[in-house]
Amino acid sequence: MRMFIEKSVLSKIRTELLVLPFSEEDVKKISKKAHKYREITDSVKSGDFTGESGKSVLLRNIDGKKRILLAGMGKEKEIDQEGIRKACAHSLKVAKSLKLKSLSVLCEGFGKISGPKAAKSIVEGIILGNYEFDKYKQEDRKKKKDVEEFTVYYNEPDMSEVRKVAKETRTVCENTNWVRDMVNEGGDVIHPDRIARIAEGLAGKSRLKIKILDEKQLRKMGMELLLAVGDGSRYDTKMIVLEWNGSKAKEKVALVGKGITFDTGGLYVKPSPYMDDMRCDKAGALTVLGIMKTVSELNLKRNVVGIMPLAENMIGPKSFKPGSVIKSYSGKTVQIVDTDAEGRLILADAVTYAEKDMKADTIIDMATLTGSCVISFGEYVAAMLSNDDDLAKKLFDSGEETNERVWRMPAYKEYADEMKGDIADLKNVGYRRGRNAGTITAGMFIKSFIECKKWAHIDIAGTAWYEKPMGYQPKDATGFGVRLITEFLK
Ligand code: BES
Ligand code: ZN
Ligand code: ZN
Repeated sequence: MRMFIEKSVLSKIRTELLVLPFSEEDVKKISKKAHKYREITDSVKSGDFTGESGKSVLLRNIDGKKRILLAGMGKEKEIDQEGIRKACAHSLKVAKSLKLKSLSVLCEGFGKISGPKAAKSIVEGIILGNYEFDKYKQEDRKKKKDVEEFTVYYNEPDMSEVRKVAKETRTVCENTNWVRDMVNEGGDVIHPDRIARIAEGLAGKSRLKIKILDEKQLRKMGMELLLAVGDGSRYDTKMIVLEWNGSKAKEKVALVGKGITFDTGGLYVKPSPYMDDMRCDKAGALTVLGIMKTVSELNLKRNVVGIMPLAENMIGPKSFKPGSVIKSYSGKTVQIVDTDAEGRLILADAVTYAEKDMKADTIIDMATLTGSCVISFGEYVAAMLSNDDDLAKKLFDSGEETNERVWRMPAYKEYADEMKGDIADLKNVGYRRGRNAGTITAGMFIKSFIECKKWAHIDIAGTAWYEKPMGYQPKDATGFGVRLITEFLK
């Protein structure tokens, strides 16, 4: 999508559709002292437009603007970045339904939020709101027209900061859409080898260093947990490591993402209909891939390594079995109780690799790990576990800024104790087959494979995948985590 950031004022703008945001206070002023456009005053006086948040009114042919969309932003002191994102996504949808090629937003009327912060939210609302996974809807595609460009009009003395933020935000949002596209594809399109080739393509075009570990190498290294999970699949298991060295400082952050390209549950097969959406189970790894792309495109002054263990959890003569004991890369043995608790197994080997081989100081893992997380938090918040208050606070703050929110759960020793094995060092589910504190015990299982003093685990089972569209989020893959972690790294 083409983007323009222009300096202008209302009277000079010529466009197909201009979005004009108004707070309820702005509307009250118009009812007392008329707006310079009679049509706007009429809409206010007739009660059609009140400025109520989420409500809008479309007007036609005013002063060189073919259409004006009055966008209600609610009470001035309640206007936040999320409100701006939603209003802009709504406006984009109006433009789309009118089959327009472009839209414009005048950056006024957003209460206290102005300048770069407003620019960021506008760009997010429009680019994220424009996303649709419709490539397989052949009839619909023919009828539809895409909005091709948008302009944000400002009247700021210095536009350079606004332009810089808008450009960066566009990169982050386009990469979020890129992640959404890959997560939405089925497991036979986006399988481990395909992801490896996409990552290779990315590394070829950037200063990212890449290492692809295949089954032979993984076996030699002793990544038996990761390999076991992929045993039943016709696709080879892989692990991808992407490295970004953006700083001379020693500090290194490892991002580790669960990449189960399809989760049938294995021999502990998922009952219907719980398998239907399990193409989502690669979201963690693809989010890490999207973040690495973003980090390289924004040229971030940080050292970041992205680690993606990739396997398909299938059923077949070679599938790994309940009751087996498997030796992890760390050397600890794991008793398999439930083959559907596979994510923690592949992550265990991957976080060990982050610590032992990559020597990361901070490890953040992301995974669609537990159904319990969806039950606790729904789609609105991701669960977080961490052993470091400062890291947890920074992730929380990044979540509030981006609205990709995380909420910390208790990480007491008792939860880790539940994961002690009967015939091995560990077992892969806690009490009542992992139903007691399922999200916490899953996270504590991962933690038991590393010594790392700065670790955070983010369970994105609810936030990575939506039942229904909401605001600028589409149905299905949301790309959750790209904005959160980019903000955190910045
Ligand atoms: N991939 C699932 C978790 C999941 C559930 C993600 C719903 C997205 C939406 C994971 O591998 C799984 O099956 N977890 C089990 C763990 C249990 C066996 C301890 C679960 O949550 O039921
Ligand atoms: Zn599973
Ligand atoms: Zn899974």
